[in-house]
Amino acid sequence: MKKNNFKIAVFAGDGIGPEIMKEALKILKIISENKNINFKINEGLAGGCAYDHFGVPLPDDSMELALKSDAVLLGAVGGPQWESLDYKFRPERALLGLRGGLGIFANLRPVVVFEELLEASPLKRNIVQNIDIMIVRELTGDVYFGKPRGMKKGKDGKRKGVNTMVYSEDEIRRIAVRAFEIARTRKKNLLSVDKANVLETSELWRKVVTEVGRKYPDIKLSHMYVDNCAMQLIRNPSQFDVIVTSNLFGDILSDEAAMLTGSIGMLPSASLGEKTALYEPIHGSAPDIAGKNIANPLAAILSVALMLRYSFSMPLEAGLIEKAVAQTLKEGFRTQDIYQPDKKLISTEEMGDKVAKNLRKLIS
Ligand code: IPM
Ligand code: MG
Repeated sequence: MKKNNFKIAVFAGDGIGPEIMKEALKILKIISENKNINFKINEGLAGGCAYDHFGVPLPDDSMELALKSDAVLLGAVGGPQWESLDYKFRPERALLGLRGGLGIFANLRPVVVFEELLEASPLKRNIVQNIDIMIVRELTGDVYFGKPRGMKKGKDGKRKGVNTMVYSEDEIRRIAVRAFEIARTRKKNLLSVDKANVLETSELWRKVVTEVGRKYPDIKLSHMYVDNCAMQLIRNPSQFDVIVTSNLFGDILSDEAAMLTGSIGMLPSASLGEKTALYEPIHGSAPDIAGKNIANPLAAILSVALMLRYSFSMPLEAGLIEKAVAQTLKEGFRTQDIYQPDKKLISTEEMGDKVAKNLRKLIS
């Protein structure tokens, strides 16, 4: 029997997190009302808000809540008021703690341009119009988690900062397998991005990805150095289909790729593990515009679509949400980050309402 009861842990987080999450939950509610599906939503604290309440960015209760849920929906974490804290108290540790604790090692960042937003891209229309890239970023290894790490004083009395870039072959293999599987559902081109001309971690990365590739003769595997990839993303982004890369390179390249689409406020992401998954917009907490009801909730709304697709096997409903977003853009509604002079400028809440209205129409 198809499951129709899902437990979702929601962490709205900091900055614009609560505002965009409110709109995302509006959309989820419509799906549950119309499809006879019960989403049991439990909200928890993670990030700076958790630090303010409990003195830690990821309280045990929050981690437990995430662990016993079918999926986690996250807004954004971070803000200037927490930047001077010791690194283990910083809001970002909540996100990294959730990723590590949930074992979600595959971060999927789809980069697509909505036809209606082509003009909002800083690049020329002919360069961005056919973009359809899936960035598969490894999420639980690399310098993000490698040890030793820290800051210390050397014998000469001078401070030293240390981080360790490390990958085991098993970590590389499992992300490579995911990437090949995803490439199989798309145009069957997989590009692995590394810095194998300089780094041993990358040398191993390239070897293991190539070995895994032997089991996927139907997928065309190629390799590129990360600096070249950064350039090619601007020069000719439509050459890319699926990109698989390590944690740090993926962090940087996905922000760059996101901007091709006009606004980082448009892009959702899915982080998948063996058992559970976490969904969040790619953008951060944008403290400068928080509380003003002007943030773009579309990435959060599209993250809900990804959750329905990847965690709850509801591709139809996911597609309807994406359609409702496209429809709303077609009608000319824009938040300020994607605004153009001849369009209708609306607030965060209004954007949520417009998408909700279109979704209702599509569902009925
Ligand atoms: C991201 C963010 C995070 C990362 C930060 C907030 C820890 O930049 O999800 O891309 O570096 O992974
Ligand atoms: Mg990032």
